[in-house]
Formats: sequence, C-alpha cells, structure tokens
Amino acid sequence: MSSGNFYDALSEQLSGLLSGERDWLANTANAGALLFMELADINWAGFYFLHGEELRLGPFQGKPACTRIPVGQGVCGTAVATAESQLVEDVHAFPGHIACDAVSASEVVIPLYNGDHCLGVLDIDSPTVGRFTGDDLAGLQQFARVLLEHSDLPG
Ligand code: SME
Repeated sequence: MSSGNFYDALSEQLSGLLSGERDWLANTANAGALLFMELADINWAGFYFLHGEELRLGPFQGKPACTRIPVGQGVCGTAVATAESQLVEDVHAFPGHIACDAVSASEVVIPLYNGDHCLGVLDIDSPTVGRFTGDDLAGLQQFARVLLEHSDLPG
C-alpha cells in the first residue's frame, strides 16, 4: 500500500472510531492507541497538552515518558515555539532533544491548534533512524485534522 493510501485508510478508521464521541480527552486517547496499533516500527505515540508555557503529558501508548516539557525545549517544545511540525530523522542530532526512552531514534511532532490557540502536540517516536518521511508527516497531519474536527476542543 502506498503511504498515501495507508494514511487515507487510517484517517477513515479514526473517523469511524471517533464518530458519536466528541470528548477531547477520550478522542486523543483513542487516536494515540490507533496510531500505536497501526503504525509499523514505532515505540511511542501520544499527546502533550499545553498549559501556559509548558507541555504536560497526555494520553499515550508506549513506555512511561517525561511529564513536563517547557515551550522551546526538545522536539515537542520546538514544535510549539515555532508553530511548525518537526520531522527529525535522527534525534541524537537534534540540539536539545529530550530522551524519554533511549531507544527512540527518530521522531515526528505535530502542533495542534484550535484556531490560533495551541492545544499541544501529537508526538510519535521510532527506534529507527529516518523512519518518518514527508509522506508520513503529511498523512499524520491529515490524521490530526480528523481528530480535531471530530472533537470539542478546549478554548
Ligand atoms: N523526545 C521528545 C520528548 C517526548 S518523548 O519523545 C515521548 C522531545 O524532545 O520533545
């Protein structure tokens, strides 16, 4: 399956999974579980929610992780500070990367917005360097849009 088709199918699956439920916490929990179940070669998938100037751990699948990340620090904090998704081929080459699990080798982080208001990030880690391509990023951004559209968002 091409990655476009894979992510189209994954977003369809998410849309079905979330139909009838608009609770943000419940939906992020199920979205993270779906990613962890369906994406090959990953070791962590989940969310950090923005509280003031810090990200705090939200629903996730994988090993226990760092609970608080200041905006501007690590890959997650950089995604919030720059308002840009981060596609990191080799986390050990990323200045300030925060290693929650020593196994993680590449990472993709997508900031999530309600209008202009940043809600937090979707974060996915892989044990393989270069696991995520531009197609993965585009597919995961589509996945994040489906999640946001299906949920009542915090203000
Ligand atoms: N590596 C992240 C921290 C979160 S964990 O990957 C779950 C970062 O540098 O922000």
